[in-house]
Amino acid sequence: MGQSLVITSGKGGSGKSTLAINLGAALAAAGQTCVLVDMDMGMRSLDILCGLENRIVYDLADVADGICQVKQAIVKHPAIQGLSLVSAAQTRGSDALSPQRSREVMEELKNRFDLVLIDCPAGVGRGFRNAASGADRALIVSLTDPVSIRDAERVAGLLERSDILRPELVFNRVRPARGGQRAEMGCAERLNLNLIGLIPEDPLLPLATPERPAALGSSPAGRAIRELSRRLTGEDLPLTPLRRERLIKRIARAIAQ
Ligand SMILES: Nc1ncnc2c1ncn2[C@@H]1O[C@H](COP(=O)(O)OP(=O)(O)O)[C@@H](O)[C@H]1O
Ligand SMILES: [Mg+2]
Repeated sequence: MGQSLVITSGKGGSGKSTLAINLGAALAAAGQTCVLVDMDMGMRSLDILCGLENRIVYDLADVADGICQVKQAIVKHPAIQGLSLVSAAQTRGSDALSPQRSREVMEELKNRFDLVLIDCPAGVGRGFRNAASGADRALIVSLTDPVSIRDAERVAGLLERSDILRPELVFNRVRPARGGQRAEMGCAERLNLNLIGLIPEDPLLPLATPERPAALGSSPAGRAIRELSRRLTGEDLPLTPLRRERLIKRIARAIAQ
């Protein structure tokens, strides 16, 4: 039996979908079977971001309505062995699904995959409740500004009500600083959240598409996401402070991409 993990944040734009795909690719590369579940009903994105938009036949609303079985909505990534996608509906809203139905779908997916990564929509309404109710664990993705941090705190409180007691926290788009990430670490402690990832701001952060399956490469964000995937699967790997990349290295990397 696998585990389900909701990737959430409150507001949009913190990098949930980008992280979901890259984390899924990293987990699959490490030999785990992984399914991404796009819960953003009406505004799905993972199909396009993964380059799978032409392969979607059935979506979550079809599953909820009983038009198809869960397994018929699973699309295997053609280039990344072990990674699959279940897409949200594009023409239906979050009320096409209920927390109860969502739990049932996730249970079935957990029977088929080691990890079910649920990409949560923005907001804390029904879409959020659907996504959280099917999850065993949660990963809150926050930017480092005060508004995002306040959102993260609010979401942690709401998750508690869904019995997800100690969500894990990832700071995204972190800028390397001289003293390491003391500010981010102090903040996580204050919020009583387990900080398990520091992902640097990386304008070249690639996505794993069929054309570029091994996209994560050796970019700083790629390395951080790979480390995060190892911590998620139980490895005791300390957080490495982000270092400023030397300009010359950055240019070389940009040319190589
Ligand atoms: N570590 C990062 N460095 C630079 N840009 C990032 C990073 N993570 C995400 N982004 C960018 O931020 C934007 C929002 O990301 P997205 O994953 O769509 O957020 P969400 O799903 O939370 O709304 C995208 O343009 C994405 O490429
Ligand atoms: Mg998104």
